[in-house]
Amino acid sequence: MTSTERQQKTAGQGTVLPRHIAIIMDGNGRWAKKRGLPRTAGHAAGAETFRRIASYCRDLGIEYLTVYAFSTENWKRSAEEVSAIMGLLKKYLEEAIEKMRRENVRIRVLGDLSPLSPELRALIDRVEAIDETLETRTQANLCVNYGGRDEIVRAVKAWQADPDRGELTEAELSKYLYTAGMPDPDLIIRPSGEERISNFLLWQSAYSEFYFTDVLWPDFTERDMDAAIEAYQKRDRRYGGVKK
Ligand code: IPE
Ligand code: IPE
Ligand code: MG
Repeated sequence: MTSTERQQKTAGQGTVLPRHIAIIMDGNGRWAKKRGLPRTAGHAAGAETFRRIASYCRDLGIEYLTVYAFSTENWKRSAEEVSAIMGLLKKYLEEAIEKMRRENVRIRVLGDLSPLSPELRALIDRVEAIDETLETRTQANLCVNYGGRDEIVRAVKAWQADPDRGELTEAELSKYLYTAGMPDPDLIIRPSGEERISNFLLWQSAYSEFYFTDVLWPDFTERDMDAAIEAYQKRDRRYGGVKK
């Protein structure tokens, strides 16, 4: 039994698992470079790590796992790299259609999907239709062409255009975000040694706990996830208040 499993067993007695974990899946390029491989090989390895970590989160009973796969700024990369990432996403979704019932993880894709190919968008629709029928505790959100600022601008525009809109409050605007109806991330993990947010979940991270590690994403293991959760469990979340 891992220490996280032990802690999970004692949940309710002081140690609480995060309901929502978010990950900035960074370091694929450096992982490949270290091995003399093309950057795209790093993305392929990173996609495998995502599969493994998503299954682990399901086993732990994490409710939401939100991963940053492609940002609104990542279009600045070479056409070759962008198309390799989109190809991996397509491959992942095709396999997910086959395996979703077995894997039992609901998949949602968050972001502005309009610039994606019609083929990829059709695949996303198919995956999301299957996920409606799954009875699972765990949902994986894949952020694709996602930007936190873009999300907020879109939410404001959607709110403005909605004839049924309510008075503008924080709770009201949250209903127009990609994450509508989901709890904010409790824990945000960034591997690869970078310590910045890079336009991820700007609104939702207001009171998230951050965990940084030098491990490159393709090398990230279940033990690294345990370490992140253990660090999270030692944090004192005050939300601006004073501890009693
Ligand atoms: C993260 O890895 C994946 C994407 C941003 C698509 P990187 O490709 O950013 O890897 P590094 O940061 O160059 O090592
Ligand atoms: C953030 O990583 C985006 C994803 C992991 C998808 P980047 O590699 O794009 O971020 P920067 O450029 O280092 O800030
Ligand atoms: Mg990077």
